[in-house]
Amino acid sequence: MRFFTRLKFSTKLNLGVAAIILLTSLPLALLLSRMAARALAGENADRGRILAESLAARAPDFLLAGDYLRLKNLADELKAAGGDIDYVFIQNSAGDVLAHTFERGFPTVLRDANAAGAEKRAVRRLLDTGEERLDDFAAPVYAGEERLGTVRLGVSRAKIQTEINRLLWAVAGVSGAALGLTVILTSLFAASLARRINTQIKTYQDQLLQAQKMESLGKLAGGVAHEINTPLSIILGYSQLLQEGAQEGGQLREDLKLIEKQAKICRKIVSDLLGFSRQREPLLIEMDLRAGIEETVKMVRHTFALRGVAIDSELGDAPVWAAGDPEKLKQVWMNLLDNALDALTASEGGGVIAVRCRADAERGRAVVSVADTGSGIAASDQSKIFDPFFSTKPTGKGTGLGLSVSFGIVQDHGGAVSAASPLPEEFLSRSMSGLPGSGRGPGCVFIVELPLCCGVDIAEASTALG
Ligand SMILES: Nc1ncnc2c1ncn2[C@@H]1O[C@H](COP(=O)(O)OP(=O)(O)OP(=O)(O)O)[C@@H](O)[C@H]1O
Ligand SMILES: [Mg+2]
Repeated sequence: MRFFTRLKFSTKLNLGVAAIILLTSLPLALLLSRMAARALAGENADRGRILAESLAARAPDFLLAGDYLRLKNLADELKAAGGDIDYVFIQNSAGDVLAHTFERGFPTVLRDANAAGAEKRAVRRLLDTGEERLDDFAAPVYAGEERLGTVRLGVSRAKIQTEINRLLWAVAGVSGAALGLTVILTSLFAASLARRINTQIKTYQDQLLQAQKMESLGKLAGGVAHEINTPLSIILGYSQLLQEGAQEGGQLREDLKLIEKQAKICRKIVSDLLGFSRQREPLLIEMDLRAGIEETVKMVRHTFALRGVAIDSELGDAPVWAAGDPEKLKQVWMNLLDNALDALTASEGGGVIAVRCRADAERGRAVVSVADTGSGIAASDQSKIFDPFFSTKPTGKGTGLGLSVSFGIVQDHGGAVSAASPLPEEFLSRSMSGLPGSGRGPGCVFIVELPLCCGVDIAEASTALG
């Protein structure tokens, strides 16, 4: 048993299939050979009896005339007619052999090995010579009611055995071919299955690693953010308090305003960090995801257009119900749109951002994608983009928190966010390829998947939650 568990997956599969084929083909071969043997033996018996009886019907004239030469000719003709006829001989009523087909003398043991009965039909008896098995037929020769003698005919069973062997070889050949073909197919199937399982294990390992990394980073970021929050509030409070006492338009007041502005930027960062570390529970209500996406798109469409970027949003006709915190999810859509805008405007030009939303009922997932044909994400950066503070943007332009915060929010919703770059063909919308050259880069797509839920009216849900 231990030996079996140590075998390769494909070997185990092949052994199993081979065992099934052998277990089915062996009894089948036995059954077939037995059925064939019975059918052939029956046919042999009928044929031998008919031949013996027909010779017995022709023999009386020659027996009465004592024409043993003609009797011998008849016997020889009969033997020559059937390839499996071993011998033919004719006895008189006293049992003496009058004519036979044996070339090296008549074997006397055969003389009384079989005898015809009182009836006119031939009697069959199975004889075993040690070398072969044969059916001996004894047909009585009558002239009227007078018994003149007996015709004896020996039919070999070797031919039957040859036929059965041929059948067994045919079954063995078909089973062998089936076995060979099955082993090849099973090996191919096992190899492709093993490849698929390995890829899936690798994906799960990567996801687990990413999740563990995010959790420890989240804890760290959350802890630091929490500690910074208090001194930051004091700095902000004092800078505002001191401004009240400072002279309007004076240098001191300007400096204090700068401190207040920078402290507020820090507070935003701290708030994002706390969001990423999931220290705030999201408020989940059932809603049509399309509403929040549409609102966000509407909000930014104009400013994006000023920078030469159009938004092509196709959200479908049917509502896509998911349980979520509308404000937090809007933050996710906003971060993704902002990133796409930056990617498209990194170099001169502009472009199109394609936003799609659909329900994948089979997988029970709402799927939102934000695709652009901007600068794309370098392969070496793809594993880092969700890390807090990872940014490829110039200092002061990006804090590197947008995606990590979005990651935390989507995870809190029981969903997942992933990115693919270069932009896969299926996300390339017609409006993207329609714009000649503008902002065209390798591009990328961000896909957010959230659990679907059965639809209820959003207004109803909001009222219920107060
Ligand atoms: N659509 C995109 N195209 C190309 N690169 C992208 C895209 N979205 C994100 N990235 C890459 O992922 C990095 C991290 O993104 P993230 O939103 O977390 O931070 P950021 O945009 O740099 O800063 P922030 O969002 O905090 O202002 C980006 O700096 C960029 O390199
Ligand atoms: Mg960003």
